[in-house]
Amino acid sequence: MAGNKILVVDADTASRNFVAAALQKAGYQILQAASGKEGLIVAWRDRPEVIVVDPVIADLKGEDLAARLRSDVRTSKIPLIALSSDAQPARSRSCMDAGFNEYLIKTAQAVPALIETVGRLLGNTAAAAKEGGLQIAFLSAKGGTGTSSLCANIAMNIAHNQPEARVVVVDLVLPIGSIAEIVGYEGNQNLVTICDLPATETGPDFFRDSLTEMAAWKFHLIAGSPDPERGNELKVGRIGDIIRALKEAYDFVLIDLGRSLSRISLPLIEHADLIAMIVSTDLSTVRLTKTVWDYLQSKGVHSTAVYTILNRAVGLEGLTKVEAEKIIGIEIKTAVPYLGGNFALANNQHQPLTFKFPNDTASIILKETAQQMVALARHLRAD
Ligand SMILES: Nc1ncnc2c1ncn2[C@@H]1O[C@H](COP(=O)(O)OP(=O)(O)O)[C@@H](O)[C@H]1O
Ligand SMILES: [Mg+2]
Repeated sequence: MAGNKILVVDADTASRNFVAAALQKAGYQILQAASGKEGLIVAWRDRPEVIVVDPVIADLKGEDLAARLRSDVRTSKIPLIALSSDAQPARSRSCMDAGFNEYLIKTAQAVPALIETVGRLLGNTAAAAKEGGLQIAFLSAKGGTGTSSLCANIAMNIAHNQPEARVVVVDLVLPIGSIAEIVGYEGNQNLVTICDLPATETGPDFFRDSLTEMAAWKFHLIAGSPDPERGNELKVGRIGDIIRALKEAYDFVLIDLGRSLSRISLPLIEHADLIAMIVSTDLSTVRLTKTVWDYLQSKGVHSTAVYTILNRAVGLEGLTKVEAEKIIGIEIKTAVPYLGGNFALANNQHQPLTFKFPNDTASIILKETAQQMVALARHLRAD
């Protein structure tokens, strides 16, 4: 399958090489063109997935280049980013009018902004397809709310409820993941090592054949970053394609995003079939969850796609379900009781809660929660 090809069009060789190197380091495949005309030829011939252009090109203005790309069926839908040496607002406006999706200015901070923009635009195109496996994103506003524990245990329940279904869990919590620890995975493969592989090697077959199935849990795992150093080196540019391939290979793709709302996670949230939002009962987490929920709504996320779980991870005290609902402004679909040390005990022994404490109310709640989430995700996909 194709990797994410990015075409960089810039007449300034040093600048073009610099941008190309930065994008390559982020995991993208790079095509280059030193003039507008060459850019057009490469774009029509090689069909990059994103085009980055400094609109200040001598032979063909960026605006004209954009207009010609937009008016050709082969390139009309390719996201176009201006990375411009012209900081004038009028130039930005004329480029956006001509069909650019974004206008960034070449400054010292341009590279992270560019990588973020590319990731977002690609994420939008890659993950937008509501095809293949159901994508369920787990997130919270704060650490320690039980997101990873619930992600692993709900995945396990989905896999056990539907023995014929293929379930994969992806730990995308950065800079360090914790699901491997919860489920007892000790292998060397993880998100960072997988993102380091060339795109041609990480098609659906790779994910079908090469991921470890966690025995008791009955799901396959992509462990998270093993340490912050490697987490910070993650080739984020590969994520969109990897999720797309996973959805071809699995019926359910559960992604632990933890408390990160970033350039990487946002497209995965926006295009999830279902968003599991985990809230604990302390006031500060509930308030932060409101902020996160307001933000997600501003990005177009609809409440029908959110399955809010109140998890009493912090003890018996705290807000009631009704109080939390009122503050956040969203319906809470299920509440998991405080389990004392039991959750930690099950986690420490790498066992699903349902196996360790089968008769506990929480085990029954998780089983039902998994059923409801699957039913809702299927219903939303069918609409
Ligand atoms: N309902 C609960 N009752 C008791 N302890 C819980 C509950 N949910 C989670 N925990 C514990 O809280 C801690 C944090 O959980 P974790 O899943 O790592 O949270 P997060 O991924 O949101 O940071 C773990 O020790 C876990 O065992
Ligand atoms: Mg976690």
